[in-house]
Amino acid sequence: MNTKTQTKTFEKKPIQGTKFTIAISSAKGGVGKSTFATNIALALKKIGCKVGILDADIYGPSLPRLFSINEKPKSDGKTLTPIDKYDIQCMSIGFLTDEQTPMIWRGPMVTSAIKTFTQKVSWNNLDFIIVDMPPGTGDTQLTFSQEIKMDGVIIVSTPQELALQDVKRGIKMFDKLGVKIIGLIDNMSHFLGDDAKKYHIFGEGGVKRTAEEFKKEFLGEIPINSEVGKQGDLGMPIVENNPDHEISKIYLNFAEKIKSLYL
Ligand SMILES: Nc1ncnc2c1ncn2[C@@H]1O[C@H](COP(=O)(O)OP(=O)(O)OP(=O)(O)O)[C@@H](O)[C@H]1O
Ligand SMILES: [Mg+2]
Repeated sequence: MNTKTQTKTFEKKPIQGTKFTIAISSAKGGVGKSTFATNIALALKKIGCKVGILDADIYGPSLPRLFSINEKPKSDGKTLTPIDKYDIQCMSIGFLTDEQTPMIWRGPMVTSAIKTFTQKVSWNNLDFIIVDMPPGTGDTQLTFSQEIKMDGVIIVSTPQELALQDVKRGIKMFDKLGVKIIGLIDNMSHFLGDDAKKYHIFGEGGVKRTAEEFKKEFLGEIPINSEVGKQGDLGMPIVENNPDHEISKIYLNFAEKIKSLYL
């Protein structure tokens, strides 16, 4: 038994077959984590990285819909093979259940599903695996932070105070668990009208102020744009569907930044 086990610190294992694990999180629900995770994965692919997405939202998986995946992953009895879509290796609990079946699982079952996805999936030679976290600060975040070698987390928020309250809780949790926060994203920061004016529907500057308060990097803004939701619903996120769109360019810039930090 090594000293690590004796002192009960957790040994953080890398996800086999991957170089860097980046989580997309926010304690708040519905702020655009999954939208960001899928588009940033596609943007990293477009700039030459090998990328996978692990949908860690066991109760409310989004990847089957956002990437329009209806097939089941193959298994050799020991490992699951990720599904390849848009040249991205994908895994989600949603590939194993039908879309409308609720997942009625207790905490330990969630932890065990996460272990399967991180240890028993044959991820192949990835530069980055993007982990799409569920909302909250629960079992999933804890399992990843304590047991998996996480190389960074990007916190996505909208600018309302209500969202920021939860985001602050999320920042404190990752700080406490020793997971590096790459920075904060202000998603749905404003609406750009036909009159070229910015309308700050959910308030202005809250995410940047939160980043400053916690001495984290503010990575930038993504405006509200109906194309983002539309393309997601159609199963081909905007970066894949329309890489020249102004919103896609924002994701591509974020991807360049992430790539330069790690590779
Ligand atoms: N920049 C944007 N412009 C317009 N719509 C957006 C934008 N970002 C996200 N959305 C929309 O907001 C909704 C919520 O997004 P998403 O499912 O990605 O959030 P989430 O944080 O992953 O939610 P959950 O907490 O349930 O996992 C979706 O309908 C999505 O299309
Ligand atoms: Mg989500």
